[in-house]
Amino acid sequence: MKPKVYVTRHLPEEAWSELIAACDVQSWDEEFPPPYDLIAQQIEDKEGLICLLTDQIDANLMDHAPNLKVISQVAVGYDNIDIAAATGRGIAVGNTPGVLTDATADFAFALLLAAARRIGEAIDYVRDGKWNTWGLTLLLGQEVHGATLGIIGMGRIGQAMAKRARGFDMQILYHNPARLLDVEEKLGVEYRDFDDLLQEADFVSLHVNLSAATRGLIDARALALMKRTAVLINTARGPVVDPNALYQALKNGQIAAAALDVTDPEPLPADDKLLKLPNLIIAPHIASATIASRTLMAQMAVRNCLAGVQGNPLPFPVNTV
Ligand code: DGY
Repeated sequence: MKPKVYVTRHLPEEAWSELIAACDVQSWDEEFPPPYDLIAQQIEDKEGLICLLTDQIDANLMDHAPNLKVISQVAVGYDNIDIAAATGRGIAVGNTPGVLTDATADFAFALLLAAARRIGEAIDYVRDGKWNTWGLTLLLGQEVHGATLGIIGMGRIGQAMAKRARGFDMQILYHNPARLLDVEEKLGVEYRDFDDLLQEADFVSLHVNLSAATRGLIDARALALMKRTAVLINTARGPVVDPNALYQALKNGQIAAAALDVTDPEPLPADDKLLKLPNLIIAPHIASATIASRTLMAQMAVRNCLAGVQGNPLPFPVNTV
């Protein structure tokens, strides 16, 4: 008898074929996430669950699945899963670190450039038929090369962001729960207290997990510390930034611009006031969305799932059970 697994979304073929060769699989193949109650019902007889960051996997859901051995998330972030509840029930949780680091840092740097040089506004300007002449003061933005980048969260993606910034001759500051002396030496980055980083940086890029400590980290107080010419980039998780405080800061010119790949809530309603701001770029949570990264993420998630249903340690574990 093959182990039973539920998958909450369509997986790339390479990962899917590996999974169905070894498991008895049921899946939800719609674009939108499966309803919570449907997941609860589907996992009643399952040993494995492969899920996405849009699925809320809490203690109540786990109580519907007495045979569940593994929850395998197709993402590096796992704030949608109650890890303590899983550990308490002996359920292994896995994620997909590493394979999306460079794709995500590439995208964060692309957002930095786009916001600094007002690329979204420039595209709209031409499309709207407003380009009548060359203007000396037309769509002036912020210099990127030689500017100061402040990275908050110096994990894998924060470090990859620093590498990209070095190519633009930027001074690089970072803030992290622990100082990383080896990284300081290797990448030429300087540690700063949170407030000092916000005050000194021309660009602030967020690379933290979402946790109780980081929820609302960038609030009205933090935004007020930033330079009036500063640009904020968030490719981490939406709730790290207070959306109302960001709206006020951008509208009142307290900071120059922002670029977000993640929002709170997600997706942002089409009539959200943030979408009316010309100095804000918003992408639909696609920083890791390259064919290569997403395929590797799915393959890692399948490997975690297969190990878990077979009772083996996960190759990419989040918890210890
Ligand atoms: C993650 O992996 O956590 C990203 O947000 C999506 O790739």
